Parts: sequence; C-alpha cells; structure tokens
Amino acid sequence: MLDLFSGEAPWQEPLAEGAVIIRRRAFDQGEALLDEIARVAQINPFAHRITPGGYRMSVAMTNCGDVGWSSDIRGYQYSEKDSHSHQPWPAMPGLFRQLAQEAAAEAGFPGFNPDACLINRYAPEAKLTLHQDKDERDLQQPIVSVSLGLPAVFQFGGFERGDSTQKVLLEHGDVVVWGGPSRLRYHGILPLKAGVHPLAGAFRYNLTFRRAF
Ligand code: SIN
Ligand code: FE2
Repeated sequence: MLDLFSGEAPWQEPLAEGAVIIRRRAFDQGEALLDEIARVAQINPFAHRITPGGYRMSVAMTNCGDVGWSSDIRGYQYSEKDSHSHQPWPAMPGLFRQLAQEAAAEAGFPGFNPDACLINRYAPEAKLTLHQDKDERDLQQPIVSVSLGLPAVFQFGGFERGDSTQKVLLEHGDVVVWGGPSRLRYHGILPLKAGVHPLAGAFRYNLTFRRAF
C-alpha cells in the first residue's frame, strides 16, 4: 500500500546562521497542499515568464496572495495584479499561510506574515540559477520555501555569486527557512532529474513565501 504519511516527526538540519531545513515538515499535508496549488493554477495558470535579459524561464510560475512576483522584459517586480491577466492574484489558502507562519516560528522567526507566495513548477531539466531574493522591502523578514513532489538539489551559497555552495537534496515535504544573517545568501536549484512522484507525477513544486510589501 502507498504510504502517504511520513510516520516520523520533522527534524531540523542547520544550513548556516539563520538558515535551516525542517525535514518533512509539510509531508503529511502534501496532498492537501498540491490540491490547493491546482486550485490556484486553475485561476492563474502556470506560465514561463521572460527574464529581463530576454530568456524564457525553464521554471513555470504562478502566485497567490496579496502580491505576486513576476518577471518580464522590463524587470522583476511584485505587483497586486498579474501583468498578463490584469487580475489580482488568487487568495493565499489558509493552509499555506499557517504552514509558513509555523515553520518560520520554528526556525526562530516568530510573527512572519507573508503577503506573497510564489509557486514554482519544475519539469525535468528545469532549473533556477543562483540568485538572491532581494526585491522585498523588509529584509528582516525571512523566506520560507516548501518543496513538494520530485526531489531536487538546492544550492545554498554565500553573499557573492561566485562563493562556494552547499548542495542538499530537498524532498517532498521539506521546508527551508532563511533569514537574519543568511537572508541575502545566493541560492538556486540544479536541473531537475526526471522521475515520477506518487502525488505530483512528473513535477517538483516549490512554494516560496515572502513578505514583499
Ligand atoms: C526560489 O528560490 O525562488 C525557489 C527555490 C526552490 O525552488 O526551492
Ligand atoms: Fe529565491
């Protein structure tokens, strides 16, 4: 029988000061989280945005929350409306908000109240090159990142693009929180390996919660 419950308590693996992986933190909610992702994507479908440099991103994205992050030829921005659909982003499900708030508190960042949730969908070979999350107004607020579906290698580096990186496998249900002295560390995702996940099929999904405004 397919076992959809981890049967083990989450555990913390420190990455750096202010950065921690909470392993399997979202495992038992995985199916419910994926259902909510599908609902959001019905309203605002996943799309491959164009970078300011003119490249089509290999990761497909949508957002939920009061504001959403997107990219187009003019640059990266947070906005209350999707620049494609001219509609507000779908509301952030309560399940998402609660998970993000609880995980942030467990990692030492109480009082986190995200207004933005970027949803990334990775197909095989999709990747996210090293970057900093720095478009948010208050850099005292942490980032909470939830991994679902196929596993991927997360790179967690320093404060310069060329700094060496730690490489850790993020699996279904793992939550990474980084803030404080680690808030501006470079990070990225190596090209996804093909596979089949019992709940997510051929994809990896990532929820990135932020306080943008
Ligand atoms: C991100 O940096 O926006 C996402 C990282 C991930 O997919 O785990
Ligand atoms: Fe990021």
